[in-house]
Parts: sequence; C-alpha cells; structure tokens
Amino acid sequence: MDKLEQQFPDVFKICQQFELDEDTMGKIVQIMTNEIYMGLARETHASSSIKCYVTYVQDLPTGSERGKYLALDLGGTNFRVLLANVISETNVDVISKSYAISKDMMKGPGTKLFDFIAESISQFCKEHKIENDNLPLGFTFSFPCKHVAIDKGILVSWTKGFKSEGVVNRDVVELLREAIDRRGDFKVNIVAILNDTTGTLMSCAFHNPNCKIGMILGTGTNACYMEKTSNVEMLPGYQTSRKPFMIINCEWGAFGDNGELDFVRNSYDNAVDKRSVYPKKQTFEKCISGKYMGELVRRIVVDLMDQGVLFKDATWQTLRKRKTFLTRFLSVIESDKPGEFGNACKLMDELGVKGCEEEDLLCLRYICRAISTRSAKLAACGLVALIKKINVKDITVGIDGSVYCFHPHYHTLLMENMGLLLKGSTKFELLRSKDGSGRGAALAAAVYTRRPPASPT
Ligand code: GLC
Repeated sequence: MDKLEQQFPDVFKICQQFELDEDTMGKIVQIMTNEIYMGLARETHASSSIKCYVTYVQDLPTGSERGKYLALDLGGTNFRVLLANVISETNVDVISKSYAISKDMMKGPGTKLFDFIAESISQFCKEHKIENDNLPLGFTFSFPCKHVAIDKGILVSWTKGFKSEGVVNRDVVELLREAIDRRGDFKVNIVAILNDTTGTLMSCAFHNPNCKIGMILGTGTNACYMEKTSNVEMLPGYQTSRKPFMIINCEWGAFGDNGELDFVRNSYDNAVDKRSVYPKKQTFEKCISGKYMGELVRRIVVDLMDQGVLFKDATWQTLRKRKTFLTRFLSVIESDKPGEFGNACKLMDELGVKGCEEEDLLCLRYICRAISTRSAKLAACGLVALIKKINVKDITVGIDGSVYCFHPHYHTLLMENMGLLLKGSTKFELLRSKDGSGRGAALAAAVYTRRPPASPT
C-alpha cells in the first residue's frame, strides 16, 4: 500500500478521507449508545436519531413450531410470497415466488402497490391450492414502523427509494387487508407484521437460542436486539409486562440525521446524499449500505478521471451516469487475490471498458476496499454498541443481506473490527441467517398464531 501512496498520491488522499481509526470508532460507539438510550426513553425518543421502535415481538421460536405458514416479504425491488412447512427443527420446507416491483409502483399511489401485493398473493395461493385455507401469515415489511400491536404497524417514513403515496401514517396491515377484501378471492390470517431484522433474529434464534441481535446489510442497513421490557419506555405498561424481553427495531439507518456523523462524512457522502430520494435522511445507511456503496466508488473514480489520474487511456464514459457502478462490482473486484486482476478484467470486458491499465485496476480495487472497509467498520461500531447495551458474556448475531452475504471480505472485516473494539470483553459469533425476511416471517406467524384450544374429549 505504501507503494500506492507514493505512486498515486491523489488516490491515496481521497481514500484517506474514508479511513476510521480506533479512537474515532470508539467515539462512534459512544454516540450510537447514547442515541439508543435516547430512543428507548419516552422523554427523548422524539429527538433521537436511533428511534428504537417497539415491535411487540416478545417470544422467540423455540424450535418446536410446526405446521404450514405463509410469509410476505416487501423491502426491496422484489416482493416475495412464501409458503413454509415447518416439519421439524432441521426441516423447513419453503416454496417461494418473487414478483418484481416496478419504479412506478414504488412511487405511485399506495392502493396500486397494495392491489399488486394482493394480486400476487392471490396468484400464489391459487397456484398452490391454498386459497381457502386461511393460513396464518407473517408480513415482513422492511421500513420504519410504529407498532401498536403485533399485527398493527404504522409506516413512519419510506426508505430505500420507495415513495408510494398515501401509506405514511397508515397501518400497513389494514391497507393490505383492504386490498385483499377488494378482491375477495382468497383467505389468509395476517397475524404479525415485522421488520426484516426481526425476521433475521427469529430465523437465527430458531436454531440458536444465543442469538440476541439481528442485522441486515443489503440494500439498506438496520439492526434489532432483545431488550429488557422494563427498559422499553415507549411500550404502554412496560413496567408491568409479564414478558421479560421485547425485540427492539433500532432503525439505525437514520443515525447521523441530526449531524452526529458529520465529523467523519466527506464531500462524496454529501454528493450522494444530495442526489438521493430523501436528502439528509438515512445518513448512516448512505455511508454503509448496498444502495450507496457503488455510487460512492463511482463518484471517486469519476473525480480521478477528471483530474487525469485514472483510466487515462480507457473509454468508460458510461461511468459518468449516476448509479452505473453497482455495489455488486465491489464484491467482484475485491475477490481477486493480491497481484491478480482476473475478475476485475472480466468485469471491465462486460462493461465494455477498453484500454485500462493494470494500475487503473489496482487503484480501483484500493478505492473499493476503502468504501467496503469503512462500511464494515461503521457496522461494527453499531453492533458493538448493541452488544455492550445487552451486556452478556457470550452472544450470537444473526446477519442477512446482499452485502454481508456476497462481499468476499465483509465478514472478516466485521470480525476484526468488532474484536478490536470489544477487546475480549465479550465472546461473539456472527451467523449468516438463512432467508431471515422470509423464513423469519413464517416463524413469527407460527409463534403468534393463536391456536384454538383443543376441544375436550
Ligand atoms: C431500511 C429500513 C429498515 C430495514 C433496512 C434493511 O433501513 O428503513 O426498516 O430494516 O432498510 O432492509
């Protein structure tokens, strides 16, 4: 790397702006911890940037759940319907289908979005001949919601590019029930609405009772954790609740919205924020998650091209268009071994980029590495803040999301940096949670289905 610093000082200088040392990370952990405490407390909840929403999820799967459940997953560019048959602790049979959500649908009237969802469920149920079974259904809705009950979630704001009208401040389950009633051609029993982080925690806890945190690092980022109910001031009757724990949906993507991250953010972060669907919102998410990592790399490379430093003899004009450098490309480029550029070359071919030098690719990888390392370091800060808050000696974190699952070094970067910050005080394990949003919602439905009492014989 020293060589790169001498040979390409301009590249090095830009990447340095993304560097976070141990002291800075320690400071971020402290500020995040403070925001978490503020989010939980009634008096400070409104002004906190980590809202810590109550979820009404107070029971985790025990591994003994059985039966057929439906799950819905809305949170990205696809909407999914799943049918899970929980046969045993080790055998969950899942059938699923994805339905693409168009840009128009993401931004048009809410009724259109919910009619589309209902139509997709109808199609799915008819295909599998379960339209009259009234199966229990768990709905993973991965946006900030104020919960009033396990099956009642009021959308606070859209994130991740959604802007569908007439949904904010409405109970999403009610909107779904209305759309289903408009059709009247299938029956389901919606028993729970949950966030994808909650689904991830539940799906991981099904096998691993030590799992107390769920994190998503994909298009967006967020985490949830098990909090003592006696600390959950936003829950009516929290002091007298019979259940000792509740899952808290942190919505940490909004951390920094009050300027708390300004001391580490830079001009590239500002540029990405300015052109986003909701400027000045989801600040942490914009530094970390898949929706923005590629765009950060693109802006740096274009700057260096303009300065005549990179891709001098190459034709890469498409890069000047926003969002043309996908986050998936970081994973491809960073998967080459040191000194090798096979995957990067293949990618350049695919993109039709001609005439780039090995040095260009070396710098490009260095830039990608700077962005993914900062992302993992910030995520590590968040996880460490939660681990310290939970205060146990041994903990498992369930993780899902495309960045965590597909980036070649993300897991290692998280482990290294969490280790650095925790300094051996807590034993921790990071587990990939298999389809948290889908399986987790089915498990939530299983846990929260009130079965009719067995009839006396
Ligand atoms: C966004 C959403 C949040 C979700 C996360 C990951 O941050 O606001 O609810 O959990 O993306 O999908």
